[in-house]
Amino acid sequence: MRNAEGHLVSVIENLSFSVAHGQTTALVGESGCGKSMTALALMRLLPEDFVITSGRILLEGRDLLSLSAKEMRSLRGRAMSMIFQEPMTALNPLFTVGDQIAEVLRWHQGLGGSAARERAIALLRVVQIPAAEQRVDAYPHQLSGGMRQRVMIAMALAGRPKLLIADEPTTALDVTVQAQIFDLLAELQQETGAAVLLITHDLGAVAELADEILVLYAGRCIEAGVSADIVEAPRHPYTRGLLNCVPHFTLGRAPKPWVDLGEIPGMVPPLGARGADCAFLARCALAADICRSRPQPALDPIGPGHAVSCWREAGGTT
Ligand SMILES: Nc1ncnc2c1ncn2[C@@H]1O[C@H](COP(=O)(O)OP(=O)(O)OP(=O)(O)O)[C@@H](O)[C@H]1O
Ligand SMILES: [Mg+2]
Repeated sequence: MRNAEGHLVSVIENLSFSVAHGQTTALVGESGCGKSMTALALMRLLPEDFVITSGRILLEGRDLLSLSAKEMRSLRGRAMSMIFQEPMTALNPLFTVGDQIAEVLRWHQGLGGSAARERAIALLRVVQIPAAEQRVDAYPHQLSGGMRQRVMIAMALAGRPKLLIADEPTTALDVTVQAQIFDLLAELQQETGAAVLLITHDLGAVAELADEILVLYAGRCIEAGVSADIVEAPRHPYTRGLLNCVPHFTLGRAPKPWVDLGEIPGMVPPLGARGADCAFLARCALAADICRSRPQPALDPIGPGHAVSCWREAGGTT
């Protein structure tokens, strides 16, 4: 990202992952870790001040960074689509939800008139909106938060994408609706075989839904692995701290198999204040001399499908 003086400040570094057909990969981390910027980079929808300085984004073998703006426009909504973090700002308050879904259908599938309306109603049914024939004529403000989120999912699915990016699809919703939306995403994924990139700050919420989890901290991946390993055998102190914040894990019957570090003190360092050393150092209860004298280590494989970036793990001292 370019700061006020025009200097480049790193937002996301060395991030590498893939999402397979029919699989869910979750990006998890606290606010400001770079989750949304990663998603927007994949869609090539980054705000103006942000630039991609190196790397590749492959969608079925095509490097998206080599495509023209026009080519990207035709891919968005069709090959890849995104459920944005703010449903109220992503939906236009002046148009009915049916008109907004129909617009996507017109743009991507050339459907118009009654065919688009019928398909919009069918999509509202797919996302389990009751009385879809009536709700198709509702304006966003006439729907509950959960319903609006379902409309967003219907719009994202309208072009039958191969990759669906869901950026905090349930932040504004209460826990029961959150569970329904996650169930719905899982169901729709089974039916369509889409690859899903799920973004959330809630590690507990995605534990069951995700096949793989990447834990981001200050723009770097600090731990990655299959979901069960990350949740049941976390190795990075930050991942453990995140799990300690999940009531299910803190109130669970069995004692946790890792050292209880309590809540994570402090905050994610702001952009521009991140050095080469471990960005979590200042907040880490397990920080040792080795952590202070070297730059943050690369992700180190510690088991099949499990990697961690932590000197204490690399040195085998934990
Ligand atoms: N439009 C913007 N202009 C300048 N900086 C931004 C902008 N949007 C985000 N940032 C900064 O970029 C970094 C990454 O932000 P990002 O939105 O990706 O975080 P996030 O992990 O999605 O957080 P949250 O959980 O709050 O959505 C943060 O330091 C943030 O302050
Ligand atoms: Mg975000």
